[in-house]
Amino acid sequence: MKAPVRVTVTGAAGQIAYNLLFSICNGDMLGADQPVALNLLEIPVAMNALEGVALELEDCAFPLLAEVVLTSEPEVAMRDTNWAILVGSKPRGKGMERGDLIRENGPIFVEQGQALDRASADDVRVLVVGNPCNTNCLIAKHNAPRIPDERWFAMTRLDHNRAMAQLAAKSGRPVSSITNVTIWGNHSATQYPDFVHARIEGKPVVGVVPDRSWLEGDFITRVQKRGAEVINARGKSSAASAANAALGHVQDFTFGTSEGDWTSAAVVSDGSYGIPEGLIASFPIRVHPGGAWEIVKDLDLDAFSRERIKKTVQELQSEREVVKDLLGK
Ligand code: NAD
Ligand code: LMR
Repeated sequence: MKAPVRVTVTGAAGQIAYNLLFSICNGDMLGADQPVALNLLEIPVAMNALEGVALELEDCAFPLLAEVVLTSEPEVAMRDTNWAILVGSKPRGKGMERGDLIRENGPIFVEQGQALDRASADDVRVLVVGNPCNTNCLIAKHNAPRIPDERWFAMTRLDHNRAMAQLAAKSGRPVSSITNVTIWGNHSATQYPDFVHARIEGKPVVGVVPDRSWLEGDFITRVQKRGAEVINARGKSSAASAANAALGHVQDFTFGTSEGDWTSAAVVSDGSYGIPEGLIASFPIRVHPGGAWEIVKDLDLDAFSRERIKKTVQELQSEREVVKDLLGK
């Protein structure tokens, strides 16, 4: 029997967590032979609801679930954690942009970053889901100097999946035939879902979907604004698809991306493609089995792509300005 991997989930009584925890314990994220221990964090007023989630976890009698810790103390939640999935924060409502949450949610990631720095396992990896996730990740990272740059991620996997689904629907091909999609930049309405390098059945999308005006127009806009489309329809932000994306992210950074393909994740920029060093920006990422990863470096960017990447990077820079007092020393 393997030793358990300790997974922290914050906002553990919220709607994303409710769609995530049971899959983690079922082995869908880390593998069918990998025991897990859960550290679940909530704010004090939600601890009763969290107790209820714990009752349900117990009632599932998951063979892989070794331990559940319930707490409202960030440091307890981050203790010895190997994977910290930071969901807990306020979601936006109708008519808001994700960036509108920045001053309210940002401070959460100061405290949790500091707790990660003090208490997490030496190999911890962190996935920030709570919005605005790129800048929240930047805040947490700046408050956790012990944790190396390559362990920090903000989630753009949901946008990546959305882009794949739209290309599949438009081309009439299965989702499994769509590869090499990239989400560039911010998890926001300025993100650039890149169809130029994406492939359908191994062929460039632009050869299979001849409607260039759809690709440059409705495709990009639909993916950029899909979160708002869900909120307008459901009255709440995406939860099941967000949880599914978090699972997919951790799976890829555990088992690796498929040969010839890549995924999208917001990582600490190393300056690739002219994106300023240190920003948490989404890139095409190739992951090796075991989790070592690199930014895919050799893509030619046309003027159309460069222009869109510039816009989303400018937004990340202005978000960083807004939270500069939260970035520590
Ligand atoms: P929710 O309101 O259902 O749940 C959030 C939970 O977080 C609540 O139970 C709340 O009590 C808890 N919480 C608040 N502050 C906390 C803190 N300081 N510590 C621990 N827990 C805290 O919201 P949700 O639908 O689960 O969404 C959570 C976040 O995820 C939102 O910010 C949302 O915008 C974001 N989100 C991101 C993506 C993405 O693709 N990156 C996708 C969907 C949602
Ligand atoms: C999403 O993309 O669905 C989430 O970021 C929630 C939101 O506010 O759009």
